[in-house]
Amino acid sequence: MKFNIANHGGIVAQLVYEDKLTGEYLSYLKEKELFTGKAEEVYFMIDSNLQAQLFIGLGKEEKIDFELLRKTFYKTAKVLLTNKVAEVELNIPKLNNLCNYRIASAIAEGMLHATYKYDKFKSDKKEQPELIVNYIPQAGKEHRAEKGINEAVRLMEAIFLTRDLVNQPANVIYPETLANTAKEKLAEKGVKVTVYGQKEIEELKMEAFLSVARASAKEPKLIVMEYYNDPESEEKIALVGKGLTYDSGGYAIKPATGMVEMHTDMGGSGTVIGTMYALASLEAKVNVVAVVASCENMISGDGYRNGDIIGSMSGKTIEIVNTDAEGRLTLADAVYYATNNLGATKLIDLATLTGACVSALGEQVSGAITNNAPFFAELEKANQRAGEMVWQMPSIDYYKKMNDSKVADLKNSGGKLGGMMTAGLFVGSFLAKEDIPWIHIDIAGTAHISGEYGYLKEGATGTLVKSLYFMLSKEA
Ligand code: BES
Ligand code: MN
Ligand code: ZN
Repeated sequence: MKFNIANHGGIVAQLVYEDKLTGEYLSYLKEKELFTGKAEEVYFMIDSNLQAQLFIGLGKEEKIDFELLRKTFYKTAKVLLTNKVAEVELNIPKLNNLCNYRIASAIAEGMLHATYKYDKFKSDKKEQPELIVNYIPQAGKEHRAEKGINEAVRLMEAIFLTRDLVNQPANVIYPETLANTAKEKLAEKGVKVTVYGQKEIEELKMEAFLSVARASAKEPKLIVMEYYNDPESEEKIALVGKGLTYDSGGYAIKPATGMVEMHTDMGGSGTVIGTMYALASLEAKVNVVAVVASCENMISGDGYRNGDIIGSMSGKTIEIVNTDAEGRLTLADAVYYATNNLGATKLIDLATLTGACVSALGEQVSGAITNNAPFFAELEKANQRAGEMVWQMPSIDYYKKMNDSKVADLKNSGGKLGGMMTAGLFVGSFLAKEDIPWIHIDIAGTAHISGEYGYLKEGATGTLVKSLYFMLSKEA
């Protein structure tokens, strides 16, 4: 898909409001219930003279927001792509008094969502011709529209990077290839990527991370990504992503049905890598470090066991009550490293951490735990801007106590009750200082979805790349 600003050409789309539907053609369509002008309705037709008609429904003008534009233009692009349209002209006036830059960004984003395909392993790839989109904004706003479209293009590249990482299977994406992809995609954008292997991770005394990695034939990798572009600020924000390239459960083995999708258990790291890509390619003014402790949770004669007591980089000891609660162990060392060794002043961790979160919130809303309300408010503002949803879960002292062990400092599962919160609080107890502003986001349900939702296709979503970009670049 290619966007041109203020160029004419191609099939001219007509925007239609449901309460201002006029003319013979549209009245006929409405009468036959073929097109009524409601938001997300798209009507495309080529008549016997090979004349094309394209109507895009926008509902009532006062109800238009960015999410509605994303959804409507996602549908539009889908229709155009299936009909192999080569070129379309969009004349976009000021809509509902929204900012021209953000209108262009939302429309381009929605359209680009329609182009995503995960067909890397299909022999018969259905190639689509490139669609040219001639975008004509309100007169005088060409520059603003161009800026918005450029933002959407970069953000979608970042989101597609995340999706490709999450969609690909564990025999293709494992710690080393995950690290290589991070290097390949980020180094050229000016992000410093450092990858540590087994020996260096041992020297760092990351015993919790290494215990999870031990049964795997694949070497664990600690991936550190640094992007500094705000020299005047003392702030250094850490993004920590769960990077389990496969989670079999270990000795607490998962049933085969639940295991098939466990190549997506590096969703947190995919989000973090995508966010770094977005920040760097849009040159956000911020200092961010990202940390991923990547490994596989497998089974072998040397695997860690249910009942083991292990150490961690922080010095805290952990009783392993369930080898399938592995993500929090890798995060424990990564969070400690980010706050102790890298000097992060704030931290956000993202993880496909618990089935409990999926049960509570489903696949459309991520769950969060925080120790800092103003910091969380910044995320909520960015979520609004991005059209993504994160729901804050309660964090009471009692939930934290549920992680107490009789034989060690902590145990790696607080049990079935309140499983999303106890998992999050476990991760938070490895901050080098407990008052560092922190948000834990559980994306177990949202990183990968079982059916299309709005402009998100089935499979990996790349959720929260947008929100984190808006939050950290202060664009929200
Ligand atoms: N990776 C899983 C969580 C998960 C479940 C992600 C479903 C995506 C979909 C995590 O490592 C896990 O196994 N969690 C356990 C924790 C339990 C053993 C305390 C869970 O949620 O069942
Ligand atoms: Mn697990
Ligand atoms: Zn897991």
